Amino acid sequence: MHYQNGATSGGDDRNTTGCPFHSHASQPTYFSDVIASGKLTLAEVFTNFSEIMFAAADTTSNALCFILYLLATNPEVQARLREEVDEVVQNNGLNVNPVGKMNYLDSVIKETLRLYPLATMQCRILEEDIALAGYLVPKGTMFVMNHFAASRNPEVFEDPEEFRPERWIRDERNRMHHHPFAVMPFGYGKRTCLGKRFARMELHMAVAKIIHKFQVKPIESMPFDPVVRTILTPGDQVPVRFVDR
Ligand code: HEM
Repeated sequence: MHYQNGATSGGDDRNTTGCPFHSHASQPTYFSDVIASGKLTLAEVFTNFSEIMFAAADTTSNALCFILYLLATNPEVQARLREEVDEVVQNNGLNVNPVGKMNYLDSVIKETLRLYPLATMQCRILEEDIALAGYLVPKGTMFVMNHFAASRNPEVFEDPEEFRPERWIRDERNRMHHHPFAVMPFGYGKRTCLGKRFARMELHMAVAKIIHKFQVKPIESMPFDPVVRTILTPGDQVPVRFVDR
């Protein structure tokens, strides 16, 4: 991603990286505190670190890239989102509570995860026999659920390839009436994503902050080639640039 106009990078002596979003590089984190406490074995440190990096950081950061790409390539959606964000910021400032009440922002996130479910597939092994569509499926069978295909099923979603956050808004004309399990970006059941509320909050905050401060625009000369690297990612480059508002 590219940042145009460096106007925001000077004058902030907390910012050691030059990055317009990053101003707390040297502060201790929850994780560094836990390691320093000496209460975890080395094996536990490795397991927790890879879990946090993979399950939490990798997923949320790639989701953010997909959201920004879709906003950059759908300027009318971006404009409507900015109206909502600006109104909330004007009335309440930007913090977790009002941001959590932004319906359009919520629907932008849901629609992005419908088009780009980071876990494209998921497996479950049956603990008991079941009857499915008239067939007996025996205990021990492994089911592979293809979320990517299900999310774009034209029998469930009208114009499934189109980015239409309105599908998710109650009372809106285009609202979708789909099966509740047609889209499951965070999985479901006993092993559902442990961090889904946290991820939603992070994405709400990040998107609201970015959209309040910048316009995001596409870089037409750069390809957009999503690729699966265990999870679905936007590929090596995200063809989006940031322009100061
Ligand atoms: C957009 C962001 C995220 C997406 C799309 C996502 C998606 C998923 C999915 C599909 C699963 C498997 C669920 C299942 O098998 O039913 C999962 C599991 C998990 N996620 Fe997330 N996740 C996200 C962010 C996070 C965050 C921020 C955290 C931690 C703070 C987190 C922690 C976990 C953990 C620990 C599991 C394993 C749960 C278990 O096996 O019992 N995830 N996630």
